[in-house]
Amino acid sequence: MDPEDAEELAAELHGKPVDVWDLLQIAAGTGLTAYVVWAGILMPGFRKVPLKLQVPYVPANANQVENVMSLLKGRSGKMVDLGSGDGRIVLEAYKQGFRPAVGYELNPWLLRLSSYRAWKAGCYGKVSYCRDDLWKVDLSDCKNVTVFLAPSVLQLLERKLLVELPDEARVVAGRFPLPNWTPTSMAGEGLNRAWAYDIKTVRQSKQDRPEGSPV
Ligand SMILES: C[S@@+](CC[C@H](N)C(=O)[O-])C[C@H]1O[C@@H](n2cnc3c(N)ncnc32)[C@H](O)[C@@H]1O
Repeated sequence: MDPEDAEELAAELHGKPVDVWDLLQIAAGTGLTAYVVWAGILMPGFRKVPLKLQVPYVPANANQVENVMSLLKGRSGKMVDLGSGDGRIVLEAYKQGFRPAVGYELNPWLLRLSSYRAWKAGCYGKVSYCRDDLWKVDLSDCKNVTVFLAPSVLQLLERKLLVELPDEARVVAGRFPLPNWTPTSMAGEGLNRAWAYDIKTVRQSKQDRPEGSPV
């Protein structure tokens, strides 16, 4: 709206009582827009995922990707990113020699974007982006796992990882640490920090502690 139109509108509204119906329409319009953005762009494909487990797309920045990869340095084998977004971590892992490099993601737009980014990087068909619910995939053959998720789901994720991952697996969490595990190492500062956890050490410390206490 240009300034003159705004002035005209202000002049028109000046002294006029606020119409409740207009306000309701504005509120409904704003709510509807927010819902359409949420359901249609940010979270399509999430209908079957309980609301409390839904984590929106917030891509890792270049520094975060670098920190995550630094904690996987010297390792090899299968790498998976749980909730792979636009596929950037998977792509970087592939470039650094992890085979296979796999991302699990439910948002079909992000899966398309991931394939496009892989194609642009000359890696189309070499990395895998799977339309799967991360809570339902079997992780028993994964040696390297990355997670950039929300704090609200991390405790539940700890349980899944502990049950399914092999002893030699390493989990790297970005942005938020796993709440009950002690990291083996970390990289970066503030919001860019990443934490590495070795499953064997986590299991060991769980055995050393009394039943019911955090790992
Ligand atoms: C915070 S973003 C991180 C994206 C990417 N890992 C990165 O670091 O750039 C979390 C991603 O997880 C995806 N996601 C959330 N819950 C999921 C689920 N149950 N199964 C698969 N993907 C999920 C979201 O769609 C979103 O793209």
